[in-house]
Amino acid sequence: MYGNDFAPLLEQVDSAERDLQQAAGRDVAAGTDLQDYFDTIVAADQKIEPRDWMPEAYRKTLIRQIAQHAHSEIIGMQPEGNWISRAPSLKRKAILLAKVQDEAGHGLYLYAAAETLGVSRDELVEMLIDGRQKYSSIFNYPTLTWADVGAIGWLVDGAAIVNQVPLCRCSYGPYARAMIRVCKEESFHQRQGFEILHTLSHGTPEQKAMAQDAVDRWWYPSLAMFGPPDTDSTHSERSMAWKIKRFSNDELRQRFVDMCVQQAEVLDLRIPDPDLRWDEERGHYAFTQPDYDELMRVIKGDGPCNQERMAHRRRAHEDGAWVREAAQAYAGKREKSAV
Ligand SMILES: [Fe+2]
Ligand SMILES: [Fe+2]
Repeated sequence: MYGNDFAPLLEQVDSAERDLQQAAGRDVAAGTDLQDYFDTIVAADQKIEPRDWMPEAYRKTLIRQIAQHAHSEIIGMQPEGNWISRAPSLKRKAILLAKVQDEAGHGLYLYAAAETLGVSRDELVEMLIDGRQKYSSIFNYPTLTWADVGAIGWLVDGAAIVNQVPLCRCSYGPYARAMIRVCKEESFHQRQGFEILHTLSHGTPEQKAMAQDAVDRWWYPSLAMFGPPDTDSTHSERSMAWKIKRFSNDELRQRFVDMCVQQAEVLDLRIPDPDLRWDEERGHYAFTQPDYDELMRVIKGDGPCNQERMAHRRRAHEDGAWVREAAQAYAGKREKSAV
């Protein structure tokens, strides 16, 4: 009942993990020219590691992408954290608490991966807080009811998995390894969301209506998580050549829609798209595209919760200053006593 279409995706994560381990032992006859070495490693599907030379643009692209991903994990704790104290039972509360904690852990793995590229976590947090770096626009939508927690797990974590499974094969080693761990945990998040919606949609008519309303509001923003259409995507081509990105935004979006249709049937909930239909010729579902103008507006800061999310993040950062200072003072003391 868990919409186990995600099982093949998890197999892909396992196979990426096996390939990653094997690639490390493979002999590659690369020249001594730095660019040549880099190109050969990428072409052989081996991993570029922090010690290796890499083109400056590759490093910058990765810092931008990994940082944006890390920020999304941390900001993404807010919409669901909003429901921890109001979860309908102790069991639901414990599960949600664990899930939100997982997201903090994902942020940590990713900040650590970004740090291997020569940027500090402090700098990254600063860039988030002063708006130089972004986070996923999906977290600028409000969670109005308990069913939203289900819809986020099913759709938002579901879309995240579809986006992130190919990143397990990313050419940069620390990012690929972080993604393998993240994807394994995300599959649990997707299932808990599916299970919440399944319970509601098989409950009272009011509960079912609440579940449907949540899916109605989260469907299109979830489709927009895959980014602008391929025709407008600015960073794609080079990222593909560097094997950071493996599939285009539109390919991944289509994959996600195809997976959701069957799951919505099991849930007995309607996908809010009157034009959704099986396209025999293409072997995929035809669907209505999300409103990309809205996506751009939300990215630029004009979503329903942008200000609130950033204000909360800033406050949390300021409130945590004493912890950072204490940790630094303690590290300083230990260093002194080690001399
Ligand atoms: Fe996550
Ligand atoms: Fe998640």
